[in-house]
Amino acid sequence: MATILIHPDTQSAIRATAERLLQAVQGDHDAVLGLATGGTMEPVYHQLVRRADEARLSFAGVTTFNLDEYVGLAADHPQSYRSTMNRLLFDHVDIPRNQTYLPRGDAQDPSAEAIAYEAAIEAAGGIDLQLLGIGRNGHLGFNEPSSSLASRTRIKKLARSTLEANARFFGAGERMPTHAITMGIGTIMKARKLLMLAMGASKADAVAAALEGPVTAACPASILQFHPDVTVVLDQEAASCLK
Ligand code: F6R
Repeated sequence: MATILIHPDTQSAIRATAERLLQAVQGDHDAVLGLATGGTMEPVYHQLVRRADEARLSFAGVTTFNLDEYVGLAADHPQSYRSTMNRLLFDHVDIPRNQTYLPRGDAQDPSAEAIAYEAAIEAAGGIDLQLLGIGRNGHLGFNEPSSSLASRTRIKKLARSTLEANARFFGAGERMPTHAITMGIGTIMKARKLLMLAMGASKADAVAAALEGPVTAACPASILQFHPDVTVVLDQEAASCLK
């Protein structure tokens, strides 16, 4: 059963999401957090960094696993999710870098990397709290529509709509990766708690399909209906198609 929190404005949705991440670390200094990237998460990490600083909260015992990484991008590529996470969060809290995990986009054997990533999550004892955004097509991580609802970390081809949505992060003439290593839907569902944030009218249809539509691989986020502990934070616009 999902707890759905509809905030009057975007800023309060961002603050509420950051606060839940902060509380997860305050409640368990050795928490294992699952993290996400994308435009939605940027202000969340800004807020989390600010609040962690105010609260003098240490992340020294925290371990993180990001949902995904582009295949073909080295860690130091400015648009890799590793670089993005360093810039937004890891450079600003005291988490040891070797406790921050993302799939290696430039791994020689991306399939083996995916299997090793899944094993690393298991070895860390699983994810306590997984942060999620949602794609306009209902994707979670890079589990595009038609992804198996039982899938584990693996390579996925990015949908055309995802390529179009994410092209804004890449410069003119820069080739955008076409594949990603992503946690699977089954991997995400194993996290003990899920926290999804969606903001803006462009997400309203996907949010309604995920929360009120049939559970189907055509909308991977609809699987959230089967998770025992999921909180969905929305602003008014993202909630505008809910019945
Ligand atoms: C990225 C990820 C994606 C994004 C989704 C929304 O790690 O998991 O599923 O959450 O594509 O992206 P934005 O926030 O840019 O709309």
